[in-house]
Amino acid sequence: MAGTGNVGGAIAQGLKNKGHAVTLGAHDPSTPDLIALASRAGAAVATPPEAASIAEIIMLALPWNVADAAGALLGDLSGRIVVDCMNPLGRTPDGLALTLGHTNPGGEFVQGRVRGAHVVKTLNHVGADMMADNAGLQHRPVMFMAGNEDAAKNALSQLLTDLGFDPMDASDITKSRLLEQLGLGWINQALFCAKGSVAVKVGFEPTVRFPVHTLSKRAP
Ligand SMILES: NC(=O)c1ccc[n+]([C@@H]2O[C@H](COP(=O)([O-])OP(=O)(O)OC[C@H]3O[C@@H](n4cnc5c(N)ncnc54)[C@H](OP(=O)(O)O)[C@@H]3O)[C@@H](O)[C@H]2O)c1
Repeated sequence: MAGTGNVGGAIAQGLKNKGHAVTLGAHDPSTPDLIALASRAGAAVATPPEAASIAEIIMLALPWNVADAAGALLGDLSGRIVVDCMNPLGRTPDGLALTLGHTNPGGEFVQGRVRGAHVVKTLNHVGADMMADNAGLQHRPVMFMAGNEDAAKNALSQLLTDLGFDPMDASDITKSRLLEQLGLGWINQALFCAKGSVAVKVGFEPTVRFPVHTLSKRAP
């Protein structure tokens, strides 16, 4: 886990007792908060490059301004599965907004910074508390994944299921821009529409039926 704040801490706690060995990567592994989190989550503690070197799945739960340096922070991640939970948020004249997106989504930016890694964008479009525990919801919330490697998304599916989500493939890494918009949608609901915790439920019918329109002819 690179980043042990709201998101990294919540995922670590959500995975407790689910059969995963979690290592929290922190630049100062000796802080009391981190030791308390490790105890709550039953996780090990290491520096970010040490944690990344032993992990099957590396989670980036860092502030967006650190994304540029993710490769330098964690070392060579070629061939590894890297989960991008980050949203490219920043303060703009219009308030809190995505600073990337229409043509260059954050997920693609991250893929460019950790060359050779299999980046999957996911766990960015619900609040951290939903990652720690969503068992009280009536339905499993959906969790979309965008990434180029099917094997990486398959590996993540089990982990997302263990976190209580219904994993759903959203296609390649370019689609991370859709998930980042969804992230902003969640923030809008939670913070600016005062809905509190928000998770997404999606229902699909097995066969998509398009409405059939009959064109009415003009009266001659
Ligand atoms: N909060 C949410 O509910 C939520 C939901 C979905 C997605 N996200 C996204 O997830 C990301 C993390 O959000 P968060 O709320 O978890 O943030 P946070 O609580 O501020 O945690 C950020 C973590 O990153 C670490 N960090 C900061 N700068 C670092 C650096 N230069 N090198 C190494 N580690 C560094 C911090 O460590 P120190 O504290 O030791 O500096 C902290 O552990 C963001 O991109 C956010 O947009 C957040």
